[in-house]
Amino acid sequence: MTALEVRDLHLPIGGQEILKGVNVTVAADGIVCILGSNGVGKTTLMRTIGGVYRNAQGSVRVAGVDITNRPPHEIVRAGVSQAPEGRHIFGSMTVEENLRIGALSRPAGELRQNVDRVCSLFPILRERLRQKGGSLSGGEQQMLCIGRALMAGPKLLMLDEPSLGLAPMVVRTIFALLEEIRRSGTAILLVEQNANAALRIADYAYVMEGGRIQLEGAPADLKADERIVAAYLGGQSQRTPAPGDAPA
Ligand SMILES: Nc1ncnc2c1ncn2[C@@H]1O[C@H](COP(=O)(O)OP(=O)(O)OP(=O)(O)O)[C@@H](O)[C@H]1O
Ligand SMILES: [Mg+2]
Repeated sequence: MTALEVRDLHLPIGGQEILKGVNVTVAADGIVCILGSNGVGKTTLMRTIGGVYRNAQGSVRVAGVDITNRPPHEIVRAGVSQAPEGRHIFGSMTVEENLRIGALSRPAGELRQNVDRVCSLFPILRERLRQKGGSLSGGEQQMLCIGRALMAGPKLLMLDEPSLGLAPMVVRTIFALLEEIRRSGTAILLVEQNANAALRIADYAYVMEGGRIQLEGAPADLKADERIVAAYLGGQSQRTPAPGDAPA
């Protein structure tokens, strides 16, 4: 079973085609990342899957159900939650109130149990439940943003640049938690410019350019591709040396 199937997705904004026929698949137990530089359409893809933009052509299916151009609340009910670019947590509300917002689609009786589940994953949030969202550090705010998305009990969690502005150690902590989220049964679609971090946890990756998927493959193959190394991995090939290779 696939968590997400995007087929030939086109999206115009203001008469200009921003997505030009995107195909992406996420397995039910997958972590899939989308790499790409600024302005290539990564956030637009997330927003189109999430129902923010609803004039797409092509199709989006979640666990086999067609959600193309459905409104956001229906897409959340179908099993897709987002940790959006820029986090968008509510600074003047408490951590617990922020978490509750993520559970609006769920029966009220599940609330306590869902807060507990999120706090077991991010123990720091339990300590901060009564604190204002705005008082958290950047890493804690990102955890709250992911925690809020998990409150809906999604089949697919979409994250848009979760590592942005965070120290490398915090990024490592958060990415390790993404692997735990996958183990607990939620598939992950991860948009990242931090290709090194994303390719460490992903089992498949797509590279977007100009509103299209330009390249795709397993992380090991992409890390061996000189175009990817030059553009996204700081110019250092990650290929394991083969017997007989000249020493570096
Ligand atoms: N609401 C909008 N109105 C006009 N243009 C838009 C809108 N949303 C996106 N675009 C344009 O679509 C293109 C893709 O933008 P998008 O935000 O999807 O890129 P991105 O890959 O997420 O970039 P970044 O890495 O900077 O976040 C850009 O040229 C952007 O200017
Ligand atoms: Mg973006």
